[in-house]
Amino acid sequence: MMNPKVFVSRKIPEKGVALVRDFCDADVWQSEIPPSRAELLDRVKAVDGLLSALTERVDAELMDIAPNLKVISNFAVGVDNIDVAAATNHKIPVGNTPGVLTDATADMAFALMMSAARRIVEGERFVKDGKWKTWDPQLLLGADIVGSTLGIVGFGRIGQAMAKRATGFDLHVIYHDPSAKPAFGATPVDLETLLHESDFISLHVPLTPITRHMINRETLRMMKPNAVLVNTSRGPVIDTRALSDTLKENRIFAAALDVTDPEPLPLGHPLLDLANCIVVPHLGSASKWTRDQMSVLAAQNIIAGLRGERLPNCVNPQVYI
Ligand code: GLV
Repeated sequence: MMNPKVFVSRKIPEKGVALVRDFCDADVWQSEIPPSRAELLDRVKAVDGLLSALTERVDAELMDIAPNLKVISNFAVGVDNIDVAAATNHKIPVGNTPGVLTDATADMAFALMMSAARRIVEGERFVKDGKWKTWDPQLLLGADIVGSTLGIVGFGRIGQAMAKRATGFDLHVIYHDPSAKPAFGATPVDLETLLHESDFISLHVPLTPITRHMINRETLRMMKPNAVLVNTSRGPVIDTRALSDTLKENRIFAAALDVTDPEPLPLGHPLLDLANCIVVPHLGSASKWTRDQMSVLAAQNIIAGLRGERLPNCVNPQVYI
C-alpha cells in the first residue's frame, strides 16, 4: 500500500518531521520564506494531510483544491489562520499544539513586561549608541513592578501561567475572562475595570471576530497614563494605528509586542520609530524544548488523522459526531 502524502509547509524541528516521515511520504517546504499562496495550493493538490504553520492561510479554497485532504495539523496553539468552520463542513479534523507552549509564552510575556517597565531595550540602545557618559540619577527611570496591578485579558492556560509568575513579584492580579474561574489569587473583573485599574495589561485571548481590535482607540483611552500593554496573543487583537498614535502622544507609558498586525512589520512602520514600543518577531513559543514538543504534537495529530483515529488535540471535535 502507498504511504499517505503530507505537505509540511515550514521547516519544523526534525523530531516531529522524523515521526511524520516514518508513516508518510512527507514533502517538507525547505525555504525560510513561507510558500506563496500559489505554491501552497499547488503542493496540497494531491495530499492526504497538511501540517501547516500560522504563516499559511488554510481556507475553503484550499480544502476544495485538495480532495484527498483528511487532516490539517497546525504547528501552533492558535488556529486563526485556519477556517475551522470550513474544515468542519469538509469533515476535516483540525489539530493544534496546546499545553507545551504555555510556559514559554508566559515567560515571553513576563520578560516583555519587565523589559518595557525597566526600559531595557532603550538602555541597551543608549549604550550601543555611545551615549553612556556617566551614571545619572535620573537616567531612563522606569515603572515599579512590586505592588502594581497586572490585568490579564484572557485567563486560559497562558493567562494563568502569567498570573502564576506575577505572584512571585508581589503584583496584584486581576483578569477578564467570563469563562474562567479564579486561580493564583487573581480577581475576575469586567474589561472596563481592568483597563481603568491596571498598570500592566497582558493580552492572552485567541483571535476571533470578537477579539479583533478589542484594543482600539476607545479602550486605549481607558488605560492609565502609566500603563504598559503587552501582547503575545495575535497582532490584530490591537488596532495598530490607534496604538501607534497613543504611544506617539505618550498617552500610555509603553507597549511590548511579540505579535503585530501586519506581521512582519515593514521597516519604516510608525511603531518601529517609537522608543516606548518594544517589538520582537513572534517568539512566544520559540524555545528549543517547546518547539520540539510542538513538532511532536503536530506529528501525532497528523498521523492519528491519517489512521482515521481521533486527533489527540482537535479543535473541531464536531467532525466526530
Ligand atoms: C503561536 O503563536 C501559537 O499560536 O502557537
